Amino acid sequence: MTKQTIAELLNSDCFLQEVEIKGWVRTFRANRFIALNDGSTIKNIQCVVDFENTPEETLKRITTGAAVAIKGTLVESQGKGQTVEITVSEIEILGDSNPEEYPIQPKKHSFEFLRENAHLRIRTNTFSAVMRIRATLSFAIHKYFTENGFYNFHAPIITGSDAEGAGEMFQVSTLGLDKLPKNEEGKVDYSKDFFGKETNLTVSGQLEAETYAMALGKVYTFGPTFRAENSNTTRHLSEFWMIEPEVAFNNLDDNMDLAEDFIKSVISYTLEKCKDDVEFLDNRLTQEEKTKPANQRSEMTLLERLNFVVENNFKRVSYTEAIDILRNCKPNKKKKFQFPINEWGADLQSEHERYLVEKHFKCPVILFDYPANIKAFYMRLNDDEKTVRAMDVLFPGIGEIVGGSQREERLDVLKQKIAALNIDEKELWWYLDTRKFGTAEHSGFGLGFERLVQFTTGMGNIRDVIPYPRTPQNADF
Ligand code: 4AD
Ligand code: MG
Repeated sequence: MTKQTIAELLNSDCFLQEVEIKGWVRTFRANRFIALNDGSTIKNIQCVVDFENTPEETLKRITTGAAVAIKGTLVESQGKGQTVEITVSEIEILGDSNPEEYPIQPKKHSFEFLRENAHLRIRTNTFSAVMRIRATLSFAIHKYFTENGFYNFHAPIITGSDAEGAGEMFQVSTLGLDKLPKNEEGKVDYSKDFFGKETNLTVSGQLEAETYAMALGKVYTFGPTFRAENSNTTRHLSEFWMIEPEVAFNNLDDNMDLAEDFIKSVISYTLEKCKDDVEFLDNRLTQEEKTKPANQRSEMTLLERLNFVVENNFKRVSYTEAIDILRNCKPNKKKKFQFPINEWGADLQSEHERYLVEKHFKCPVILFDYPANIKAFYMRLNDDEKTVRAMDVLFPGIGEIVGGSQREERLDVLKQKIAALNIDEKELWWYLDTRKFGTAEHSGFGLGFERLVQFTTGMGNIRDVIPYPRTPQNADF
């Protein structure tokens, strides 16, 4: 007797062998046909029960959601929709599932309802497919970097620095909020706190990754990051995972090449490994699109979009060119943008990014050389002294998926920038040391993992591609 997963069984040709399988009942039809799923694949295996020789008491307990152990013979299927099935010889109910109470019934549930039942939603086809793809993408990312000579580097999660300088941090403290110790000036005395200083959850591992790149050459982080921004959108989480490669001696062009090759590689690996799941989600999205008005439907199916990204070059466009396009485009002239584009220097909103990608270029776009004053302090200043060597990768349906830059490697320029932004230089002494001792050109970027999963699965809401989403006013489970 062999013990295998359903994925393995469906791929095997061990007909007429005795098999043993455990899983959860998806449906039980005509007192005879169990659709059984064990999570190993989106496909169920059909198990045919000999109801005449099975006790009534047992048959009653075969309900949606119940865990069962089945022994039987693998045979070629007579029915439509599957090639093999199991003729059941023995069935044991491992765990009952009261049909009156079990929330996940074999019918269509709204994503909102499933979010409230996030601990059970992985038992649906859609969420199991999304989470298998998420796991595969994660593996593909480690595989890509490892095979390309990068070292994985674990950036600290608790830190004293604010890498992005945006002040959107969750404080970490063991001081009780109701009895904060004050110093002579009446301010909170952080010397009494656990770390003896103010600390927060990291918004990015970049600064630490830079120090590692300046020793190991090519490194990447892949860890959780936290942002206390009050953004209730379909693309923002308070806790998300970010991949941040950092490479010594790379300039901005090398950085763009790396980002493009990396994204194409991980998507194409996942397309190959998760065919059934992508096919299922492709179908799901097509059905969903049909419910939208014709002018809001996307021109490509999920599969077409994924193949398009893998097969085509990303369009590289400077910020200045982009502003020209946006200033003169129809929606801007007709005042259709919520944030009209009037002049050079404007920060781009997601409506502008999506116009460039979806309407104008109709392909992924890498925007580069942004105005210095809308980007973080660490980006390398161009000779025009107005723009920095920043790059954002913009994707259809998503907007910004990657943000990165060539870093300012000149100590004096970096110090001026830090002073101009009123950042305390002393806090960054260790970061500045990399510019003092053996400084060199280097570059990196951050890819928002959930936005990549969103793109690959075609899911509209970022809350549906992370197991337990954290967003403003919500940290359930
Ligand atoms: O553009 P960001 O803020 O860049 C950085 O943090 C740099 N330190 C990265 C680097 O150069 N090493 O964030 C990078 C990416 C964004 O492009 C986006 O995909 C994702 O992280 N991201 C978020 N994803 C989900 N929820 C949020 N609140 C996000 N904020 C950023
Ligand atoms: Mg950004």
